[in-house]
Amino acid sequence: MSDRRQQTEEMLAKHHRDGERFAQMMKESFDSRFDELFWNAWRQWVEPAYSASPVVLDLGAGPGMFVKALAARYPGIRAIGVEVAPYMLQAVGDLPVGCEIIAEDLHDPKLPLADAAVDAVMCSVVLHEMDQPLRALQEISRVMRPGGRFYIADWVRAPLEVYVRNQTDEAKLFGADITTAELEDFFIHFAEHNRYSREDLIYLLNHTGFAVIHSEIAKEGRYARIVAEKR
Ligand SMILES: C[S@@+](CC[C@H](N)C(=O)[O-])C[C@H]1O[C@@H](n2cnc3c(N)ncnc32)[C@H](O)[C@@H]1O
Repeated sequence: MSDRRQQTEEMLAKHHRDGERFAQMMKESFDSRFDELFWNAWRQWVEPAYSASPVVLDLGAGPGMFVKALAARYPGIRAIGVEVAPYMLQAVGDLPVGCEIIAEDLHDPKLPLADAAVDAVMCSVVLHEMDQPLRALQEISRVMRPGGRFYIADWVRAPLEVYVRNQTDEAKLFGADITTAELEDFFIHFAEHNRYSREDLIYLLNHTGFAVIHSEIAKEGRYARIVAEKR
């Protein structure tokens, strides 16, 4: 294993705290992230880019729920997840026909896919977990065909007060009983969930071969949904 990949696995294990539990949480919360509103948006913004034999990538696929959902909704699709955390890969289980998972670090991915082979890409709550997202965006740009669509949903920068209100008990945070270790954990997570603004993500996309065609902000300003088209 490369030093970079080992560093990524260690960093993610820390960020996810208890990896097996987090994988289970990703399964249980899947339907809330990928609800009917999401699928309506996918149908509106991404499905029109499908070719006759659609190929869709899911970056940071976690336990593989999205690639499985794609296979169930779109018979004949090729749905490919990319994931690196061992506890996530382990939680994937059996995959239906048309689905596969590539075990690869998105910090410098070399995907076994030809140029312009992919119609659509999903990236759900992943970029904020990465030390740098540029190599992944450049590789996605290489494997996507012109006109392909890229859907990003992620935590974005918001005021500390909003984060505290949604993430923790304010009285406990400012109280005398909280330990220094708990405070450090809280503030490290705050920084990790406040990496980019929506504008930062759009700027990165503009410089890696994409044109943003839709974007919106949700959850009191803490969450962005962006759809970009490969130029
Ligand atoms: C918050 S989870 C979201 C999982 C899934 N996308 C979903 O929305 O259900 C983020 C996932 O991205 C993966 N991830 C983060 N950084 C990664 C990297 N550098 N390479 C590959 N996967 C990564 C994590 O291991 C984790 O499974």
